[in-house]
Amino acid sequence: MTPLLSLRGIGMSYGAVTALRDVDFDIGAGEVVALCGDNGAGKSSLVKILAGAQAPTAGSIALDGANEKFRDPQDALRKGIATIYQDLAVAPRLSIWQNVFLGSELTRPPFGLLDKRRMAEMSRGFLARLAVDIADMETPVERLSGGQRQAVAICRALRWDARIIIMDEPTAALGVKETAQVLELIRRLQAEKHTVILVSHAMQDVVAVADRVVILRGGRKVQDRPVAGLTAGDLAAMIMQRAA
Ligand SMILES: Nc1ncnc2c1ncn2[C@@H]1O[C@H](COP(=O)(O)OP(=O)(O)O)[C@@H](O)[C@H]1O
Ligand SMILES: [Mg+2]
Repeated sequence: MTPLLSLRGIGMSYGAVTALRDVDFDIGAGEVVALCGDNGAGKSSLVKILAGAQAPTAGSIALDGANEKFRDPQDALRKGIATIYQDLAVAPRLSIWQNVFLGSELTRPPFGLLDKRRMAEMSRGFLARLAVDIADMETPVERLSGGQRQAVAICRALRWDARIIIMDEPTAALGVKETAQVLELIRRLQAEKHTVILVSHAMQDVVAVADRVVILRGGRKVQDRPVAGLTAGDLAAMIMQRAA
């Protein structure tokens, strides 16, 4: 079967610094893949390439078997890849629906007025799909918990019908209970057949939700295997292992 996303020979150099070398990997539709590695391993460089924020200096990317180049993040989004960065980039003062539709507001003919009702209804629907219970779509995002904010950021991806959702360290700033909520969001996405790439330092999160783990070290892929049967300790050891 053709993989949903396929990377071949991806390289990324920043001047004299080589951040990624000859990285290949395939992701099937509906998979949750954890992308792991120590600081400097190349995770963020790879995420930026997939998000359309930078072009690789070598290699190719295919979606559904067709070669793709992403001109910019909007282009990647239109092609079905949404990236949720750690800082989330939510606008705290704005309401839930305003955040979900930020920069892509729905309007009504004939005068092009904002269709607030429809945006609020759609936001409510997205949150329901994630099993997040918030009554009022006018609630400013600053009043939400960390887990709920992640849900709003994911709703933005759903608004674009993203097939691939990349989450960069989504639980890094969260407590135990909110982390559990975010892991539940990822399970919901998987149940809806979304593909998730989870960048994480939290090995217990990886064990809890990922199907597969890809480990980078020094810009190279050093592991690519199913998570089943591995413990958080096994994963930590694989990440820290010195190159032979
Ligand atoms: N914009 C940049 N300019 C120069 N070097 C960079 C840049 N971004 C990342 N690097 C370098 O590339 C390597 C990989 O970094 P990064 O992709 O951020 O890894 P990770 O996210 O796994 O910590 C590091 O050596 C880092 O210093
Ligand atoms: Mg990083």
